[in-house]
Amino acid sequence: MKEWLLDLLICPACLPAEHSLRARVDDRQRDDILEGRLTCSACGAHYPICSGIAFLEPHRSGPRPESKYETASVLSSYLWSHYGDLLPDPEASDAYRAWAELLRDSCGTGLDLGSAVGRMSFEMSRFCERVVGIDNSVAFIRTARELLQTGRKTFDLRLEGLLTEPVTVILPETWSREGVEFIVGDALALPFRGAGFASLASLNLIDKVPLPLQHLREMNRVARAEGAQLLLSDPFSWSTDAASEADWLGGKPAAPYAGRGLDNVCELLAGRDQHLQPAWRIAGQGHVWWKIRTHSNHFELIRSCYVKAGR
Ligand SMILES: C[S@@+](CC[C@H](N)C(=O)[O-])C[C@H]1O[C@@H](n2cnc3c(N)ncnc32)[C@H](O)[C@@H]1O
Repeated sequence: MKEWLLDLLICPACLPAEHSLRARVDDRQRDDILEGRLTCSACGAHYPICSGIAFLEPHRSGPRPESKYETASVLSSYLWSHYGDLLPDPEASDAYRAWAELLRDSCGTGLDLGSAVGRMSFEMSRFCERVVGIDNSVAFIRTARELLQTGRKTFDLRLEGLLTEPVTVILPETWSREGVEFIVGDALALPFRGAGFASLASLNLIDKVPLPLQHLREMNRVARAEGAQLLLSDPFSWSTDAASEADWLGGKPAAPYAGRGLDNVCELLAGRDQHLQPAWRIAGQGHVWWKIRTHSNHFELIRSCYVKAGR
């Protein structure tokens, strides 16, 4: 974990109180803490840093092997989805470039929530001074950090059935890696001080968390009160696998949050029920076609509907 991140961090278990963390460094390489521990000055909770990865979820007791985002096949699908253009594969999607263009007039510190294997974080680093990618999948964050450290990643791309072929993603030399970091954390209890981020992206995440409104609240808390931009994009594939129906922010005929998810998210950002203050100005809406590859003859094409907002 890069040392510059320390200034942004707080104890996620103490929220809504914001208590700082004390760092113990056991091994480092220049400004990268490889082994150590962060301890809350108030509650005493410990957050390990192992092999350079900071684990900042409030109540994690180890990897979550049951999550599909920890499996090799889903990891391979996401590596293709994020970096297929660098393989290069003519079928690759340019979704992350398109999303990044929507935030291009940002600066300051960026936050990529549910960053997976990191493409949006690297894209945001083209215009943000620093970017943090946060995700609760250890496999995804380990892979994103490997790309960050080495600039490359070899993985097995599925052809058909049990057949795979090894492919290697090589990040362009021109991509900034110094100002990017990835940590394990929970989008519903962010380990960051309030008002620290100028540019925030939540891509294809809000329909995957158990409390979608809490996700918006947390984004709102860590965003600057003035001079902030936010991009939220999602297919709004509401499912009881992720959240109970009562907590969906759309996709249902009856209140609360009847109607379409994007409309309700826009209203919430604009100040509805005063959940998100200060209110956001809606600067644009639209969609980006996002592609996931399962094997060489099977792709999922997803219309991810976005809102861009500023304040
Ligand atoms: C559908 S994927 C989207 C990934 C990435 N944003 C993209 O668009 O390619 C959802 C991501 O959110 C992560 N995720 C799910 N619940 C989370 C939570 N509570 N906190 C942080 N990340 C979470 C998953 O591990 C996964 O990487």
